[in-house]
Amino acid sequence: MALEIVETIAGLRARVAARRSAGLVGLVPTMGALHEGHASLIRQARAECSSVVVSIFVNPIQFDRPEDLERYPRSLDVDAALCASLGVDLVFAPTVAEMYPVSLECRVEVGRLADHLCGRFRPGHFSGVATVVLKLFEIVQQDRAYFGEKDAQQLAVVRRLVSDFNVATTIVGVPTVRESDGLALSSRNQRLDPDERQLASALYHALQRVKSAIAAGVSNVSELKQLAATQIPPDPRLRLEYFEIVDPVDFQPVDAVTGPVVAAGALWVGTTRLIDNMRCVPGES
Ligand code: PAJ
Repeated sequence: MALEIVETIAGLRARVAARRSAGLVGLVPTMGALHEGHASLIRQARAECSSVVVSIFVNPIQFDRPEDLERYPRSLDVDAALCASLGVDLVFAPTVAEMYPVSLECRVEVGRLADHLCGRFRPGHFSGVATVVLKLFEIVQQDRAYFGEKDAQQLAVVRRLVSDFNVATTIVGVPTVRESDGLALSSRNQRLDPDERQLASALYHALQRVKSAIAAGVSNVSELKQLAATQIPPDPRLRLEYFEIVDPVDFQPVDAVTGPVVAAGALWVGTTRLIDNMRCVPGES
């Protein structure tokens, strides 16, 4: 069957209901401007589910800076064509008025998981993510939902959302897709000019440096952070917003690396903010 693009909640619910008896329903939530990272989530959903729904919604309540929301790339026609080529059944592309007909009275509050990394620098961001994800889960009522490890803190928040609110869905984490120089694919990469694009892989190199140091037995966190900093060229367009080493489950900073950790950073490249992370394990390269 051909791809259908559905803009209303009622329309989406009716179409998913009609498909449920065929087998598992998979949901890939996105904000559009789809790239190979999104495609890898969609391919995994396609391989595991009878019906695949991709939501495309630039969620205003998760943006902490109005200019970031305004500049966020939007390309529904191109996105729909990619979805069709990947065998997606339904694209759910609601308007802001459909998702938020009145301003919300209730929002999901995220606790300590949002205290560090992006949560610290983007107030309200994870509350906005958790709120829209819970709404999408209620609308689609999928069996499985696919999220990228690229946004590791978001994935951890979604896993806790599901367990804290007894949501009957399985969360599937999908590995990060990268460019050949290591830069993690991101819709925001489109904003980089050619010089900035060259500089942008510095964050990947910092993470790689830290990963191999941890593999080799370095456990001192300030030494590891210093190693990361040496990988960021002294260019006025680059600013490391944070670089932290956290516990992979509760996302609290660790004092020393004694087991698996997540190293995560946010790098400003000109006016574009890029994030990336890597799981690091002592003795494991
Ligand atoms: P968006 O940034 O569009 O990302 C949608 C999904 O694609 C997320 O789960 C993200 O982790 C994953 N993704 C992005 N880049 C990736 C890459 N290089 N490799 C693998 N996966 C990648 O994340 C959001 O949208 C929103 O916060 C959303 C969850 C849709 C809620 O609004």
